[in-house]
Amino acid sequence: MDVFERDRRYVAHTYNRFPLEIVSGKGSLVRGGDGRAYIDLGSGIAVNIFGLCDEAWKAAVTEQLDRFQHCSNLYYAAPVANLARLLCERTGMERVFFANSGAEANECAIKVARKWAAEKKGAEFCNIITLQKSFHGRTLATLAATGQEVFHKDYQPLPGGFLYAEVGDAAGLESLARDYPCAAILFECVQGEGGVMPIGQAWADAMREVAEKYDLLLIADEVQIGNGRSGHLYGYMEYGLQPDVVTTAKGLGGGLPLGAAILSGRVADVLQPGSHGSTFGGNPTCCAGAISILNRIDDDLLRGVRERSDYIVRELTGAKGIKNVSGMGLMLGFEPEKPAREFAELALSKGVLVTTAKQKIRLLPALNIPMDLLEKAVQILKVCAAE
Ligand SMILES: Cc1ncc(COP(=O)(O)O)c(C=O)c1O
Repeated sequence: MDVFERDRRYVAHTYNRFPLEIVSGKGSLVRGGDGRAYIDLGSGIAVNIFGLCDEAWKAAVTEQLDRFQHCSNLYYAAPVANLARLLCERTGMERVFFANSGAEANECAIKVARKWAAEKKGAEFCNIITLQKSFHGRTLATLAATGQEVFHKDYQPLPGGFLYAEVGDAAGLESLARDYPCAAILFECVQGEGGVMPIGQAWADAMREVAEKYDLLLIADEVQIGNGRSGHLYGYMEYGLQPDVVTTAKGLGGGLPLGAAILSGRVADVLQPGSHGSTFGGNPTCCAGAISILNRIDDDLLRGVRERSDYIVRELTGAKGIKNVSGMGLMLGFEPEKPAREFAELALSKGVLVTTAKQKIRLLPALNIPMDLLEKAVQILKVCAAE
């Protein structure tokens, strides 16, 4: 059996995999089992911020591995405290709960919001407003938070207490906050799985006004757009928002599993010993790698993100076979005239890796992808679109 047959035989069929085995990589170049090199515009879905086998990240991780790989959260470990301090200093927040994934970071945010609201306003203020077309993860609570019926249908009953507002319908948002006892509004600045759509300044302002008026927490799900991808450290900074909770994962760990719920002063003391926890959350090796990532997300890198983004948007907007381009920074989507999956397979056959989001092609390259590789990849995408 080759790897394709073995995988199909023994791994649960939850992923519609592309016909490519990845055997190694360096930066934004991936080596396939077929011996070919591919330009990676997916970064493991926004994870490998500095590409594959990034030397600084590897050095930070292996240095920690040489000390010890894991300790329980009953003891102190420097990488954990140092990463938490770094996240707080760079966001103006107060405390961090570490988890292992985006879904778990969101689970923590949901728990914090409910506990905060119960203590401050009463137990009935448990509802959380999320957005239609959102995506917040695959656990039962984060699936319930996800405003897409397609993810709900096979897993009833889901946990209750989620209400869905439509981006652009500010009156609808306000009526949910007025008519139901609510704790928080949970949102992505760019709806990734929902079609790579930024929420826009007007909607960000509407959420802030409703949150202020009805004493709701604002929870920014930065799992995909966060950690430099937006052209800011976090996407909410584009809209001048100051969330009460920020959730992040994916790129934070740079390739090792790590999630975080970053808490503002307003909710910093909600979690107390025993109220939440995780065996692996805040694993010192993952945190050591994350420190190396975060320390390199500086103004220069962010400027480079915006320049690369402008280049892609300029090249693809109005190109033959492309209906529209959307997104923010290096989280971009475009709608090809061909079906998205067909387009992605064509791009793969020509040596470029992309992912899809609904009817769109989603681009999530490494933030430091060399300009010559990016240019080559974008020209291939244009050929795929025009064919
Ligand atoms: C915005 C957003 N939130 C949450 C998640 C879930 O993250 P994870 O797969 O790490 O649980 C994702 C994953 O794609 C995401 O894009």
